[in-house]
Amino acid sequence: MSSFDNVSPAPADPILSLTEAFKTDPRPEKINLSVGVFVDDTGRTPILESVRKAEQRILETSTSKSYLPMTGSPQFAQLTQQLCFGSELASQLSDRLVTLQSPGGTGALRVSADFIAKNLEAKNIWMSSPTWANHHGIFAAAGNAIESYPYFDSATNDLNYPAFIEAISNIPADDIVVLHGCCHNPTGVDLNEEQWQEVAQIAASKGWIPLIDFAYQGFRSGLESDAAGARIFAQAGLPLIVAQSFSKNLGLYQDRVGALHVVADDADSAAKVISQLKISVRVNYSNPPAHGGAVVTTVLSDDALRQQWHGELDVMRRRIAGIRENFVDALASAGLPKDYSFLKRQNGMFSFTGLSKEQALALREQHAVYIVNSGRINVAGITTANLDRLVAALKAVSS
Ligand code: LMR
Repeated sequence: MSSFDNVSPAPADPILSLTEAFKTDPRPEKINLSVGVFVDDTGRTPILESVRKAEQRILETSTSKSYLPMTGSPQFAQLTQQLCFGSELASQLSDRLVTLQSPGGTGALRVSADFIAKNLEAKNIWMSSPTWANHHGIFAAAGNAIESYPYFDSATNDLNYPAFIEAISNIPADDIVVLHGCCHNPTGVDLNEEQWQEVAQIAASKGWIPLIDFAYQGFRSGLESDAAGARIFAQAGLPLIVAQSFSKNLGLYQDRVGALHVVADDADSAAKVISQLKISVRVNYSNPPAHGGAVVTTVLSDDALRQQWHGELDVMRRRIAGIRENFVDALASAGLPKDYSFLKRQNGMFSFTGLSKEQALALREQHAVYIVNSGRINVAGITTANLDRLVAALKAVSS
């Protein structure tokens, strides 16, 4: 008997395990639409030019690899606050706003989950149905109880706004409501500005605390407009938690860089919050990795690099919108039984196709097309070269 005989095998991660399987799949025609990673039309996940230049500058000018503070770089905090809230609002929030640099958006979520479990009165963390597969794991791992609110209507492939509003109107004070800042993962269905306003009014009257997972700023309609939700809550003077990621919009996936912003009621409370966040950081990873944060700081603090990044982000956003058009047209021309035009109305990398788990498995096993079992696809993985084969595979599993 070995020491680890009692360890039972864990279930595979519903998203990341697919890319592991994809990598070892010997079929040359394979297509990966599972994990949310942008590829260009040649199928590559590029290093942005603005990032490459920032990295060169960092290589030439950095003088030490000593630890960062537990909360990361203060300049990173200031710049990412401005990106999230806009410079004017960030400066108005002043000492009520505290920020830490985190290992990716996931790190920010986990630190917030620890903070909530240990310090707040929340009985439940409320999540959209459906939500990103890892949300449940992160908040449950920190000891939080989880509930869900209705969000996506699979009959219309759209937001079920009345059911959503009714549900969040009944969430009790102090509970946490996880909202997706834009490009809802997995459905691509977002709130518009008017709807964000109504949600903020409900939060104010009910007293629950919004937590915005903000992983796709710039992928919906633009850096400023995509931040509407976070800014509306902050402008309304409400307490707010935001987990920001730079994996997608700066293509820094493997550098693991994100930010956790908390807007508290006053400076005194904000200081207490950051002191508790530091405890979670210290026991989980001590202090954040520096490189990705240095890239974000370099790009955001240099006018020319920042402009170049804006241009590169526009290219990524336009490519995704273009793929959505081409994909829907190709599906219609191929005569699939279902109307997929809803894909054009959705935002960002993800959409729910409505395909069943059996169809997802058939796509993988028979056609080497990898999508998440929930039916989620990453449209940013579709290229001119794989479009026809993808459509043929979808047709084959749909008939
Ligand atoms: C996704 O949803 O595919 C991405 O957010 C990557 C991940 O970590 O799951």
